[in-house]
Amino acid sequence: MVDFDPRMHEYYPLLTAAHGIVKVRVRQSMDGKALMMTELLKLPDGQPVLRVAPMPADVNAAGDIFGGWVMAHVDIAGGIVATQRARGRVATVAVNSFQFKQPVSVGDVVSIYAQVIEVGRTSITVDVSVYAERNPVNPVVVKVTEAKLTFVALDREGAKRLVPAAVP
Ligand SMILES: CC(C)(COP(=O)(O)OP(=O)(O)OC[C@H]1O[C@@H](n2cnc3c(N)ncnc32)[C@H](O)[C@@H]1OP(=O)(O)O)[C@@H](O)C(=O)NCCC(=O)NCCS
Repeated sequence: MVDFDPRMHEYYPLLTAAHGIVKVRVRQSMDGKALMMTELLKLPDGQPVLRVAPMPADVNAAGDIFGGWVMAHVDIAGGIVATQRARGRVATVAVNSFQFKQPVSVGDVVSIYAQVIEVGRTSITVDVSVYAERNPVNPVVVKVTEAKLTFVALDREGAKRLVPAAVP
């Protein structure tokens, strides 16, 4: 289901957003009207931090993959990029936002992309996007989850420490 506000062109001359299995592009035409184009979603460019296939042991009573399985893998992927940026130990201090956009099923191949979006004194905030590739006969990519997590750099004793300067 694609949510489309026909007045979007009033405030976005160009908008691209991922909605489930389609990417929606809204462009402003010469006469000022909004043109909406859709295309099948592809995996983002670049390498995912994690690729993993959920197993039947990971399903909930309804047969979908348990949300906690997705949350754990999002935390692992975010922690990997935060650890690289912190050049050492980190701990998750906050899950700022977490949206399950679509269910995940056994047979899906889940790809998790994560990137640092903000670095504070001791904290590192990471944006995480999760995609599922399904139906290998006629492959479809579905964006299943979006999340933002904050990690804190820790020293050996578990006390917070300053995030070091980025490696150029
Ligand atoms: C992480 C920990 C050491 C932070 O200690 P603290 O003294 O409470 O830290 P502070 O309140 O000074 O916050 C540290 C940083 O985190 C940020 N932060 C704290 N709470 C936050 C929140 N709810 N959302 C976003 N950022 C937050 C602060 O802004 C600060 O960032 P900055 O230094 O870049 O400005 C401590 O809270 C801790 O050990 N928590 C448990 C972590 C853990 O076990 N995680 C795994 C859970 S299973």
